[in-house]
Amino acid sequence: MAASRSLAGLVLALIALHSAASTRYAPNWDSLDNRPLPCWYDEAKFGIFLHWGVFSVPSFGSEWFWWSWRQEKSPAYVQFMNKNYAPGFTYADFAPQFTAEFFDPDAWAELFESAGARYVVLTTKHHEGFTNWGSPVAWNWNSVDTGPHRDLVGDLGKAIKKRNLHYGLYHSLLDWFHPLYLADKESGFKTQYFVLAKAMPELYDLVMRYQPDLIWSDGDWESPDTYWNSTGFLAWLYNDSPVKDKVVVNDRWGINCSCHHGGFYNCADKYTPSTLPDHKWEKCTSIDSHSWGYRRNMQVNELMDEATIILELVEAVSYGGNYLLNVGPSKEGLIVPIFQERLRNVGKWLSINGEAIYATKPWRVQMENTTCKLWYTAKESAVYSIFLKWPVDNVLKLQSPKPTANTNVTMLGLTGLLKWKQDPELGLLINLPMIPPGVFAVEYGWTLKLEGVH
Ligand SMILES: *[C@@H]1O[C@H](CO)[C@@H](O)[C@H](O)[C@H]1NC(C)=O
Ligand SMILES: *[C@@H]1O[C@H](CO)[C@@H](O)[C@H](O)[C@H]1NC(C)=O
Ligand SMILES: *[C@@H]1O[C@H](CO)[C@@H](O)[C@H](O)[C@H]1NC(C)=O
Ligand SMILES: *[C@@H]1O[C@H](CO)[C@@H](O)[C@H](O)[C@H]1NC(C)=O
Repeated sequence: MAASRSLAGLVLALIALHSAASTRYAPNWDSLDNRPLPCWYDEAKFGIFLHWGVFSVPSFGSEWFWWSWRQEKSPAYVQFMNKNYAPGFTYADFAPQFTAEFFDPDAWAELFESAGARYVVLTTKHHEGFTNWGSPVAWNWNSVDTGPHRDLVGDLGKAIKKRNLHYGLYHSLLDWFHPLYLADKESGFKTQYFVLAKAMPELYDLVMRYQPDLIWSDGDWESPDTYWNSTGFLAWLYNDSPVKDKVVVNDRWGINCSCHHGGFYNCADKYTPSTLPDHKWEKCTSIDSHSWGYRRNMQVNELMDEATIILELVEAVSYGGNYLLNVGPSKEGLIVPIFQERLRNVGKWLSINGEAIYATKPWRVQMENTTCKLWYTAKESAVYSIFLKWPVDNVLKLQSPKPTANTNVTMLGLTGLLKWKQDPELGLLINLPMIPPGVFAVEYGWTLKLEGVH
C-alpha cells in the first residue's frame, strides 16, 4: 500500500514536473496571465521601495522635479531654480552632484532586514532616464559615467542577496525627454525607435546582469503595450530568461494593463481596496506623504507615523495584498535617521506580530468594525486577529470567529492562554492581560492567535 502510494505520488510529481517544464508562454496576455505567481512573493508581504536618482540632488518638490520645472513650469520650481542656481543651469548639471559618497549597501540591507522587509525594490531608472547602472545605451546619463561613478544597482543587489531579502528592480519604460521617445510620441507611437534603442535593451540588460526576483514596471501610461512590446519581453522573461522560475512582475505594461494584466496588480499608487480582490495585489506608498524621492524640506508632520504604517500593512495583508513602503535616499547615499527610526520600529512590531503577517492567507472575514475594530489573517489552522487600539475594559469582543470546546486563545509575544467566553450578543469575549499596552511589545498593535475556531 505504502509502496504503491509513493509510486503514484512519484508519477504525479513527474507529470507535474513535465507539464511545468513544457509550459511555454506565448507573447499575448491570455497566455502570460496564466502563469502562476512564484510563491515567495505572496509569502513576503512587506517590501521596501527606494526612489533614488538625479532628482535626489535638488531634493525639492518630488522625483518629478525635471518635469515640474521644465515641462509644467510650475512656479515653485522655477523660483527655486532662479533663487539657488546660476542662469543656464540645466537638469543635467545636477548629475555630478549625485555623489553617493556615504552609500553603504550592507548598512542599507541590514536596515531593511531589521525593518522586517522581505524584498527591496530600487529605481534603476526613473522617468528622467538616468540609469543607476552602467547602461550601454544611456551615454553619459548613468551612475558609472557621472555622479557616483558606481554601479548602484549591482552594489545594492550584492548586499541584498547576502540577506533574507529578495531583490526587485523598478524600471520606467518611458524617458520624459529622450529624443527618440519624443520622436515616437510625435508619430503617435507608430514608430518604435525608443523601444528598440533604449527601453527594451535596458530591460534585457537589467535581467541578464542582475537576475532580479522582481521587475516593477512603470512609466507605461502614454502608449499601448504593443508599442512597448511588453508581451514579447514577458514571454522571454517567463520562458527563457535566467530568472524564469522565480521572477515576479507587476501590471504596468501599457495603457489599460494596470489592474488587468501582468503578475501582481498595483492598480493605482497607494491602492486601497475595501473588499477582497480576486488577484494578488500590492499597495505601494511612501513614508513622506508628499514625495517618493527625498525632499530636504520635508516636515515631520508630512510623514506617516508608525501607527499609520502598521495599520496600512495590516490592512493590506488582511485583504490579500503586499505592502511596499518607500523611502527616498539622499544624494549622499543616506537613508535619513527619521526614516531609519520608522523602519526599525515597524521591524520591532513585526518581530513579535510577524507570525500573523508573513505567509498568511486572507481569512473568510477581512475586517470587523462592530464592537471592536480588528483585522484577520489565517495560516494553517490558526486565525489571527490584529487590533490596534487596546479596549478600555481589557476585553476584546470578536464577532466573526465561532469558538468550539477546544478553542485556545493566545497573544503573540506573551506566554499562556487567555480566558474567553462566548456571549450570545457581544460575541467571543477575550480577557486581555491587565498590563498597560506597550510593556510587553511596541505599542502599535497586538495579535491574538485563535486555534480551534471556525
Ligand atoms: C483603454 O480602455 C478604454 C476604455 O475601455 C478604451 O476606450 C481605450 O480605447 C483603451 N485604450 C487602449 C490603448 O487599449
Ligand atoms: C518584440 O518581441 C518579439 C518577441 O520576443 C521580438 O521578436 C521583437 O524583436 C521585439 N520587438 C521589439 C521592438 O523589441
Ligand atoms: C468603522 O465604524 C465606524 C463607526 O461606525 C465608522 O465611522 C468607520 O468609518 C468604520 N471604518 C471602516 C473602515 O469601515
Ligand atoms: C488547546 O490546548 C489544549 C491544551 O494545551 C490542547 O490539548 C488542545 O489540543 C488545544 N486546542 C487546539 C485547537 O489546538
